[in-house]
Amino acid sequence: MDRRKIGNLEVSAVGYGCMGLSQGFGPETEDGEAVRLLQKAYETGYTFFDTAEAYGNGKNEELVHKALHGVRNQIEIATKIVLPEIPVSNLQKEIESHLDASLKRLDTDRIDLYYLHYIPAWLDVEETAACMGRMLQKGKIRGWGLCQCSEQELRLGHEVTPLTAIQGEFSMMARMFEKDVLPACEELGIGFVAFSPLAKGFLTGEIKADAEYTGFDFRRVLTRFSRENVLANQPLVDLLQYFAVQKEVSIAQLSLAWILHKSPSLVPIPGARSEKRIKENHAAGQVTFTEAEFDALEAELAKIEIHGDRSIADLAKIYEIDNK
Ligand SMILES: NC(=O)c1ccc[n+]([C@@H]2O[C@H](COP(=O)([O-])OP(=O)(O)OC[C@H]3O[C@@H](n4cnc5c(N)ncnc54)[C@H](OP(=O)(O)O)[C@@H]3O)[C@@H](O)[C@H]2O)c1
Repeated sequence: MDRRKIGNLEVSAVGYGCMGLSQGFGPETEDGEAVRLLQKAYETGYTFFDTAEAYGNGKNEELVHKALHGVRNQIEIATKIVLPEIPVSNLQKEIESHLDASLKRLDTDRIDLYYLHYIPAWLDVEETAACMGRMLQKGKIRGWGLCQCSEQELRLGHEVTPLTAIQGEFSMMARMFEKDVLPACEELGIGFVAFSPLAKGFLTGEIKADAEYTGFDFRRVLTRFSRENVLANQPLVDLLQYFAVQKEVSIAQLSLAWILHKSPSLVPIPGARSEKRIKENHAAGQVTFTEAEFDALEAELAKIEIHGDRSIADLAKIYEIDNK
């Protein structure tokens, strides 16, 4: 359970999502503490670190370098590019300049997995795949990926330059890729890296209906965290609590183990900002289900209605309100 193959890479079965150290969950973590937590994650057994040029405007990548440069050859770093709207003729140059900037912030000679952070409507996926292929040939990246893509985009891109991984929201509360993108990944030997695998914390049982979020915190604008939806989703927490008690694990561990059991192509990348949670989430890699246990959990989950979600339109609202 410890390691998983995604495309041409081998990574820890549970990866560490670095975003929350810099943005999205209230105040950013103080630099020294962020470095300590990243090093703790490595010591715990995570070798797969997920960052992005967008997180903290590049600062998150710098933190990853600061914390982990001493073990660079023992870890796999994934980062992401956000493309501004440009003429297709400039695509190669634009991708390479973002990539070079990430390489510089990470102070490394290669990125193990380089994703397109999202696919803008104007972008030609095949052209992008060709550009990524050239970056692979130059040795600047070891693999490439797409975030939140459709099955068609995946197949188009993979045909031009074989994909290493897709990254998409995937959890018991976000199963939209289960029917098409995940089976395509399994068929083609592409990894599926599950972001927000704990549904941004809801799948831990620790989210309260009357919680108040301040500053740059996506939970302020996501319907999943509205008071009425947190209350409406309580039957899910109760169900998970029941199964977690049977298996003597935490709700977070049950939720991550569900992802790991669902498909060998899946690798969850939970974010956490305490040593306790970092260890707890990593230990989910050791939790196993019998087929009967898993089927029973799936059957109960199928009866539960999910209220609210994490939509891109809602996420954008954080920039429209005072998020200081
Ligand atoms: N490609 C994309 O577009 C995209 C989008 C979103 C995220 N991501 C990546 O995915 C990673 C993870 O996603 P995420 O941070 O959105 O959501 P997540 O991992 O589902 O949830 C993180 C939240 O859960 C809490 N938490 C974590 N472990 C816990 C535990 N054992 N018990 C109780 N609470 C726990 C964290 O609290 P504390 O932090 O306070 O400990 C945080 O509030 C990110 O770091 C990022 O790298 C990618």
